[in-house]
Amino acid sequence: MDKKPSTRISLAPETFIILMVVCCGIIATLSFVIFDTPDPSSAPQAITKSISQGTTMNPPAQKVVLSQTVPLSTGDEPIDQLFIQSGCAVCHTIPGIDPAKGREGPILVLGINGPKRLADPNYQGTATTVREYITESILNPGAYVVPGYPDRVMPRWYGKKLNAKALDRIALYLEALP
Ligand code: HEC
Repeated sequence: MDKKPSTRISLAPETFIILMVVCCGIIATLSFVIFDTPDPSSAPQAITKSISQGTTMNPPAQKVVLSQTVPLSTGDEPIDQLFIQSGCAVCHTIPGIDPAKGREGPILVLGINGPKRLADPNYQGTATTVREYITESILNPGAYVVPGYPDRVMPRWYGKKLNAKALDRIALYLEALP
């Protein structure tokens, strides 16, 4: 029996090792690309981050303050706690209230902005004083939507959470902010 001429390519051992290394490299790279899912333990952080900062890839996630998480106020809370527990601080920057650095809504400087809102020809609410304007903005945010900001982002249920005393103290504080 004749031996068929061998078609095997004979490899020098060095070449074989180099090929093995290259193949391993390719497999490793592919598996990174295919299985590159984020570590599940870091996922919640990623979500919170995109909510709190907005991301450049997606439209900024709107902040949501849920009625269930906001306690009924007694009106006797320290003023900063009142703004924080009510969630105002999540969406508004409020001078003098340290953690209130939110940017969903306008900076609350109603000493300056209150008279401007009332003087706006588009103002259709019923307030005649800045104090009333502030109370109206909290109880009925749709009465006047500050230009440049979205309607229906500020919650509409504050009338169920803030009693008269709390509203009064909030308005008193905000109308004094220059
Ligand atoms: C989920 C976000 C969000 C929360 C929480 C929130 N606001 Fe607002 N607020 C807004 C946005 C957005 C606007 C602007 C649009 C509008 O006028 O409704 C606004 C407008 C206002 C205005 C009118 C400001 C101006 O310059 O005319 C006042 C006053 C105000 N908010 C007070 C409060 C107070 C007090 C709280 C807490 C009891 C609060 N907001 C909670 C988003 C929020």
